[in-house]
This record gives sequence, C-alpha cells and structure tokens, in this order.
Amino acid sequence: MPEIKIREAKLSDAEALTTLYPHWGIELAEKRIGRALNSKYEKRYIAEIDGKVVAHLLVRFERGAHKHLATFYSLIVHPEYRKKGIATKLVEYAISKLPENIEIVLAQVQHDNVGSLMLFKKLGFEQYGLLKDAWKKEKSCKDNILLKRAVRKP
Ligand SMILES: CC(C)(COP(=O)(O)OP(=O)(O)OC[C@H]1O[C@@H](n2cnc3c(N)ncnc32)[C@H](O)[C@@H]1OP(=O)(O)O)[C@@H](O)C(=O)NCCC(=O)NCCS
Repeated sequence: MPEIKIREAKLSDAEALTTLYPHWGIELAEKRIGRALNSKYEKRYIAEIDGKVVAHLLVRFERGAHKHLATFYSLIVHPEYRKKGIATKLVEYAISKLPENIEIVLAQVQHDNVGSLMLFKKLGFEQYGLLKDAWKKEKSCKDNILLKRAVRKP
C-alpha cells in the first residue's frame, strides 16, 4: 500500500476535488478551498496517494459561546480507494490538528450511509440524536444521525 499523505487542500486541488464531488465544478471547488484557506473557522483536508487526491474532509469551528465545538462535514473517499484505512487517517489527522479550545467534535450522517456511520462509531463517535427529515429533495426525505466525540476534558 503506497503512503497516504494528509494535508490541507490547496487551490490547485480544485480540479481533483471535482472527481470526488462532480456537481461542484472547478469554480465552486476553488471558491470553497479559497474560503477555507482564508478563514479561521474552516479547514479543508485531503488525502493524497501517489500525488492523486483520493479523499476529503471539511472541519468547521464554531464561534462565541460555542467555540469549544467543531463539526466534521463532507467526508468522502474515492470509491476505488475505500477500505484501505484512508478515512480513518483523515479523521484522526483532523482531530490531531484541532485547536486547544475544541472539546467536542460533531458530525451528521444520513441514516442510510452505513459506511460513514460505522466509521465514525469505530473512531469513538457516539450517537446523541436523530434529526428527522434533515435532507429533503423533491418528494423524498432522509433523517440524519447526530454524532459527537469528546476530544478533550472541559
Ligand atoms: C464511509 C467512507 C468515508 C469510509 O472510507 P474508508 O477509507 O473506506 O474507511 P476506512 O477504510 O478507514 O474504514 C474504517 C472502518 O470504517 C467502517 N467502514 C468503512 N466503510 C464501511 C462500509 N462500507 N460498511 C461498513 N463499515 C464500514 C469499518 O468499521 C472500517 O473498519 P474495518 O476496515 O476494520 O472494517 C467511504 O466509504 C465513503 O466515502 N463513503 C461515501 C460517503 C459519502 O457518501 N459521503 C458524502 C458526504 S457529503
């Protein structure tokens, strides 16, 4: 298995990210990467194998009285690279880079996304709730499972 490199996304990764999120398009991918690079409240990480971007994770930091909370979004691994421990490395790396003030990491997973749910549970996240109809498109709705992991003692 070649080495997995985890790092922050750069503007030059925009095209590669559209292979993970085809509906973004390069312009939107650049805008999103740029926002993370210029914000104290976001980090976008990618996993790279042999120079190819194969996974992505967005971390957002809350503000004010919620500034001890971070939320993980948009975790995805390219279908050809799944089941090789890449998501595990990406999530653990993002946790290791959290600022000192972060005490709890949150995540939401659609109830039928078994892979992500099992992954987060394996990495110590616990379910604390269910958001009914969190996702709505035309006539379909899906619930989100709400997950949390304490990363530091308050
Ligand atoms: C879920 C996902 C991130 C896992 O990535 P991965 O790199 O394959 O995960 P890992 O290899 O690190 O897996 C670690 C653990 O997670 C769990 N897991 C991962 N994929 C799983 C699956 N399909 N079914 C059940 N458990 C799974 C297992 O417990 C696994 O441990 P094991 O290999 O010892 O069984 C990946 O399958 C994916 O991107 N799925 C699509 C997610 C999606 O739709 N995201 C869009 C959000 S916007």
